[in-house]
Amino acid sequence: MAILLPGGAGYIGSHTAVELLNAGKEIVIVDNFSNSKPEVLDKIKQITGKDFKFYELDYLNGQALEKVFEENQIEAVINFAGFKAVGESVKKPIEYYTNNIAGALTVLDIMRRYNCKKFIFSSSATVYGEPERIPLTEECKTGGTTNPYGTTKLFIEQILKDIYQSDNEWDICILRYFNPVGSHESGLIGEEPQGIPNNLMPYIVRVANGQLKELSVFGNDYDTPDGTGVRDYIHVVDLAKGHLKALEKIDKEGTGLYIYNLGTGTGYSVLDMVKAFEKATGKNVPYKIVERRAGDIATCYAETKKAKEELGWTAEKTLEDMCRDSWNYITK
Ligand code: UFG
Repeated sequence: MAILLPGGAGYIGSHTAVELLNAGKEIVIVDNFSNSKPEVLDKIKQITGKDFKFYELDYLNGQALEKVFEENQIEAVINFAGFKAVGESVKKPIEYYTNNIAGALTVLDIMRRYNCKKFIFSSSATVYGEPERIPLTEECKTGGTTNPYGTTKLFIEQILKDIYQSDNEWDICILRYFNPVGSHESGLIGEEPQGIPNNLMPYIVRVANGQLKELSVFGNDYDTPDGTGVRDYIHVVDLAKGHLKALEKIDKEGTGLYIYNLGTGTGYSVLDMVKAFEKATGKNVPYKIVERRAGDIATCYAETKKAKEELGWTAEKTLEDMCRDSWNYITK
């Protein structure tokens, strides 16, 4: 019996693949390398010393995907496939809705036909829109997303709730990621944004190595301790381990639909991140303050109690680990 990882060659997928293999699980990865590279597969094997099956295919291609189910005994799916660039999603809504939503539906439809009903979904804190309160609990209201990417996550969550409603033999776990950063300690896998990065940590790293001149800090007039945006940064290896716990949960419990925040529960500002990065790496990160970025909120961090109590999971790595490992990957 194997766990299928659509998008398993990507940033979070590859780190989760490592944790699953290290835990002795059998995995099958499918990926079309739209935002990842084939070399990642060898790196996963190098880190773990384990082998796995891989299919190069687009998960929207139902026929090709069905073959994977025919040829393997898939017991659960962790779906990492999907476009994830906020800015790009505003320019390409049709591509985002098609790839993310039709892709998820294609997988779910095939799963149903093969009577495979364990599904873990990569959602995002973005589904909370403007936070109802801080820290965000899983019960906080969702909606009011400000870009098509976020809306795909919100819609897929709703689709999953409707699927469970229609057939409660499904076992579904929705994981709402906060801000994943860092990379595996080996420095062999990590985040590889295409072009100029949109997210803070990949940008900081490229300023530190001289690829980019300076960081633009988007606003210092938010209602936060230093005026800059506050987020819940989480080490990607901690995040990957959260998937393992989610899998254990849906394996051992009766069927159900579960939702968990995966964050650390601590918020750091943009300037906290710059300082922490400089301290951890000894590198200088020049920055300037610019206008706020459209669609940004002041503060976003998680209440982590539910994941701790029900999954037995908490993030263990420190901010220093996050900074060091982000740097380690790019300098390797
Ligand atoms: N920031 C800057 N300069 C930059 C980039 C970011 O000042 O060059 C600031 C932002 O304004 C924000 C913080 O750094 O205050 C974090 O920004 P990111 O773009 O790294 O992350 P976001 O919180 O905006 O978004 C991330 C993911 C989304 C996800 C969301 C969930 O990119 O996919 O977290 O909360 F939906």
